[in-house]
Amino acid sequence: MTANRPLALVTGASSGIGADLARELARNGHDLVLVARRADPMRALAEELKQFGATSTVISSDLSKPGAASALAGELQSRGLVVDALINNAGLGAGGRFHESDPVRVSEMLEVNVVALTELTRALLPGMVQRARGRVMFVASTAGFQPGPSMALYCASKAFVLSLGEAIAYELRGTGVTLTVLCPGPTHTEFTDVAKTGSSALFDSPVASVMTSAEVARQGYKALAAGKRVHICGFINKMVAASGRFSPRAISLPVTEAILKAEA
Ligand SMILES: NC(=O)c1ccc[n+]([C@@H]2O[C@H](COP(=O)([O-])OP(=O)(O)OC[C@H]3O[C@@H](n4cnc5c(N)ncnc54)[C@H](OP(=O)(O)O)[C@@H]3O)[C@@H](O)[C@H]2O)c1
Repeated sequence: MTANRPLALVTGASSGIGADLARELARNGHDLVLVARRADPMRALAEELKQFGATSTVISSDLSKPGAASALAGELQSRGLVVDALINNAGLGAGGRFHESDPVRVSEMLEVNVVALTELTRALLPGMVQRARGRVMFVASTAGFQPGPSMALYCASKAFVLSLGEAIAYELRGTGVTLTVLCPGPTHTEFTDVAKTGSSALFDSPVASVMTSAEVARQGYKALAAGKRVHICGFINKMVAASGRFSPRAISLPVTEAILKAEA
């Protein structure tokens, strides 16, 4: 951290929402620790962030490897990096029926979306509480508000993130530390290339409402700075989340499947 600039760590900073959250944080006075597997795009981002006066540390880490979060926490400690804002953004999805899914992709999704987020937060939160200062963000999704046939594990992983985040945020009241769960809806990033869901009605239909990652990050930073517990991006996504939460499953399961199903 440079003089008077708080330090923010962003996982999944090599593309999409994570890269744009790093831009927002730098613009708003933070230095950065950028974490993902691909170092080159993070090095390019670190160069770009200098225009905001930000110093960035690039750490290449594969968060799908068991123990990656504690190794990362150890590396921060050995480099003397004290994190004021932890942005758990790294994540991936996959479409298709669960029983036909790639078992390697299943464990990768669990490790990145669930285990790394949980373990990294458990490692860094005690220091924040001790210092009575800190901001944590969990990037969940509107996918977390209802079960999602055709993306079952992804939706379940985001339901975990939402539930864990809301509960920890409540536990943290009065500590000086806040936790914000950010719930974007469909967003233009590399996500659909990885998940192979770009042809689903969610992204590709006349009524699809797809946001830019810059807009998601702008809203996310504002919610983080305000210490808001949950922020759903955009009016349509708020409606989608509410209907997912309150519709009978007999309706929401077939509707969600129709929306999430990608063409083979
Ligand atoms: N795009 C959407 O429609 C959407 C909607 C709601 C929520 N979200 C959530 O937003 C978050 C960011 O996704 P995005 O849309 O910005 O997609 P993205 O462009 O594909 O970015 C995903 C990021 O996660 C990192 N990542 C993936 N696997 C990793 C691993 N094993 N180890 C370390 N980092 C890893 C990627 O970096 P490397 O590949 O370099 O490792 C990349 O920086 C995710 O949690 C996603 O679930 C996305």
